[in-house]
Amino acid sequence: MVNDYDQYAAQRQKELKKGEKLPHRFVEKPAMRKLLPNLKDKKILLLGSGTGEESMLLEEFGAGPMVGIDLSKESVRLANESYPKHEFRVADMHKLPFDDSTFDFVYSSLTIHYSSTPIEVYKEVMRVLKPGGVFQFTVAHPMRWASERIMINEVPTKVMGYTEGDRPPRLYGNYSGFQVYDETFSSGETLRFWVGPPSMHFGLLRQAGFVVTDFVETKAVEETKQVDEYYFERFSRFPQFVVFVAKKS
Ligand SMILES: C[S@@+](CC[C@H](N)C(=O)[O-])C[C@H]1O[C@@H](n2cnc3c(N)ncnc32)[C@H](O)[C@@H]1O
Repeated sequence: MVNDYDQYAAQRQKELKKGEKLPHRFVEKPAMRKLLPNLKDKKILLLGSGTGEESMLLEEFGAGPMVGIDLSKESVRLANESYPKHEFRVADMHKLPFDDSTFDFVYSSLTIHYSSTPIEVYKEVMRVLKPGGVFQFTVAHPMRWASERIMINEVPTKVMGYTEGDRPPRLYGNYSGFQVYDETFSSGETLRFWVGPPSMHFGLLRQAGFVVTDFVETKAVEETKQVDEYYFERFSRFPQFVVFVAKKS
């Protein structure tokens, strides 16, 4: 089964707490951290809060009790058990159970790429944000997630590109399209997500009424070298995720 966040919730939480998820520890969360504002006294929504670990990151920036929503019942149960000062609820990011203009800050890590209709999510976030509110989130970068896996010299290799001089050309990956991909991880978990170019998200955010104030293509941080130098080499040169900061004017 794909996207079975209930089945893998406990394992994901254990790995996140131990820092075993390298994309979170060395790529995505450091990029988010660099852009987080002062969150003291802000009303905060976590979109796709999983098992709740990201609440600790936001607390470092002064955040008090916050609300998280996630589609996975088991993730929400674990989040409430582990971080009782916050409130985690089962809900779908396409239809948020909140009044208009409720939040100052909406945070979302690695969740919006599970939507085949991100414009609906952006419009919902726009609705629940107060005027002047900020939306900070990450999605998958096509360079990493829309490249094609092929064998080169019997080594599984990710390739984004095309042959020159061939008619028709052999194409590897799809940078510009908006397409669905399945990826099976070493844990056995298969995730199905939608990947499009950063410019597509930029356009959809504007269509939803946002002003994009920051945009970052992630790079693995230097500390990665101490744990996995080859992971560092790959993901300091090739972006895995995109961070957007967008404002409701
Ligand atoms: C990769 S996890 C990220 C969890 C957390 N944000 C983190 O960074 O650790 C993606 C989360 O998105 C949730 N999710 C997927 N589709 C969703 C939807 N339509 N509405 C709300 N949550 C959703 C999944 O249940 C899962 O917990």
